[in-house]
Amino acid sequence: MGKINTKVTDSVNFFMGNKPADLTAKYGSPLYVYNEKILRERCRDIKNLVTYPHFSINYSAKANSNLAFLEIVREEGLNVDAMSPGEIFVELKAGFKPEQIFYISNNVSKEEMQFAIDHNITISVDSLSQLEQYGQLNPGGKVAARFNGGIGAGHHEKVVTAGKKTKFAINPENIPEFKEILKKYDLKLVGINQHIGSLFMDGSKYVEGVKAILHIAKEFDNLEFVDLGGGFGIPYEKLNDQPRLDLASLGKELDEVFKEFAAEYGREITFKVEPGRYISAECSVLLGTVHAIKHNHEDKYAGTDIGFNVLQRPIMYDSHHDIEVYNDSEKIEDITVVGNICESGDIIAKHRMCPEMHVGDTIGVLDAGAYGYCMASNYNNRLRPAEVLIRENGEVQLIREKDKLEDLLKGMKGLND
Ligand code: LLP
Repeated sequence: MGKINTKVTDSVNFFMGNKPADLTAKYGSPLYVYNEKILRERCRDIKNLVTYPHFSINYSAKANSNLAFLEIVREEGLNVDAMSPGEIFVELKAGFKPEQIFYISNNVSKEEMQFAIDHNITISVDSLSQLEQYGQLNPGGKVAARFNGGIGAGHHEKVVTAGKKTKFAINPENIPEFKEILKKYDLKLVGINQHIGSLFMDGSKYVEGVKAILHIAKEFDNLEFVDLGGGFGIPYEKLNDQPRLDLASLGKELDEVFKEFAAEYGREITFKVEPGRYISAECSVLLGTVHAIKHNHEDKYAGTDIGFNVLQRPIMYDSHHDIEVYNDSEKIEDITVVGNICESGDIIAKHRMCPEMHVGDTIGVLDAGAYGYCMASNYNNRLRPAEVLIRENGEVQLIREKDKLEDLLKGMKGLND
């Protein structure tokens, strides 16, 4: 305890007595390891966000859609959102009922929309032309719509989804036309939604965004719900003691805004939120192995098997993930940790102060459960890793097999096949 090498995982008893090197020996390296207890705790944190009685949490399954993972989320009483027929398919398999799924569609084909209609799943459309399409497919039906309240936020420009520079949502100035289309197809608008972007650590932008979407909500009578989106951040710099998002004060502010809105609107509608990262990030450590140590000019490198095919976030958004080193080194050194993909950008951590690493060491990339496995690929024809779950009793359960070499040929046809 207290050692920098394992400071974060020790503080939450992440491995529950399992040795990281034993896990990779058994299930292969790299390896996504999840802790069930932490996942359940995060679900409960958000469930208790507000005291307002009509509040529902749609876990944003895009962050992590492993089947066992979704089953736990369902057991905890959360609902889900979906971004594609594929997510709907897996969510139904995990036992969610159609009424627990909210499909937030974005530029989708008729076939894709029809898939959700056939499964009785509420759809949110995010443009006038998609509302037209929906009206043609399901006249007289119920629909929701995504609006842009003008407030955007996020950890990187690629994940800011409201404001002036985004492809998402309908602008409030188009509301008259929007209402015309509703009328034309006799559609009932049951809810409106927004998502301002991903990862805020200070709730004030979110509350500002909530007020903006509620302003838009007042344009519509008889809404059943307003969905406020996700974006709840987690501290990725735990080794630097980064503070957590203050959920208690955010919840208090939201409670006030909800009550005020209900009084003005004349009805206690349902409010929904869509956290992805907050639920899924912290319950996972991505384990890997050091295969080479070298010096190139001024820099020292640790070459590992965690390429950006396994974890894309650092290369895609310059994201920071803390790294633990499961050895007894007491020496701390400046090192650049890289993967095994044939690209110079394949860097997990640049010039990081880490315990000295040696060939054969196991390392852990922390907070890897959100947008980790789900963004992994077979680039360089590398095999995607296995996923294991440490159950609440400490037992380890395989929840996804590692790819096999044959999987690389799946669906592929040679010229003479
Ligand atoms: N709702 C909608 C409509 C979204 O588009 C998203 C995420 C969420 C909810 C959940 O956001 P969260 O609570 O997880 O921040 N791959 C990026 C994040 C992309 C998020 C896209 N939208 C990353 O690794 O940081």
